Amino acid sequence: MERTLVIIKPDAVQRGLIGEIIARFERRGLRIAALKLMQIDEPLARRHYAVHEGKPFYEPLIRYITSSPVVVMVLEGNDAIEIVRRTMGATNPAEAAPGTIRADFGLEIGRNLVHGSDGPETAAFEVPLFFTEDEILSYERDTDRWIFE
Ligand code: CDP
Ligand code: MG
Repeated sequence: MERTLVIIKPDAVQRGLIGEIIARFERRGLRIAALKLMQIDEPLARRHYAVHEGKPFYEPLIRYITSSPVVVMVLEGNDAIEIVRRTMGATNPAEAAPGTIRADFGLEIGRNLVHGSDGPETAAFEVPLFFTEDEILSYERDTDRWIFE
């Protein structure tokens, strides 16, 4: 089963949307393998977003993601990476499809509420930045057979 890293970003935490956002992933059927509230420090932010170093939005992005606590999660499911990205919607909330998290709760690209790994290599890089192996739980839910065929 595939694993992906999700971050409920500072704007979503400040706006009281933690529960709303977790609920969307949870109701969809994705299984929570790890979950915590934390403050991202600058070195971690720079490592996590290293791929964007040098772009015009990089420094504002580092300030944004370190500005307030975030909730980080590892979500599991078949095709979890793609499912999470589609549940989040396009990077720019103004262009995201209605019904997605970014469209339903956001307006601007620099305040887009949520992060999800964008591919298998990215997920494999990002998950260990935030969680040790023993923080990621392997378990089954009694409902799994009603969600996973
Ligand atoms: O988060 P996602 O993978 O959808 O987008 P990205 O292109 O990897 O960019 C990472 C993050 O940088 C976005 O989620 C935004 O928070 C921020 N960003 C921005 O503020 N302005 C842009 N023009 C592009 C990205
Ligand atoms: Mg990305």
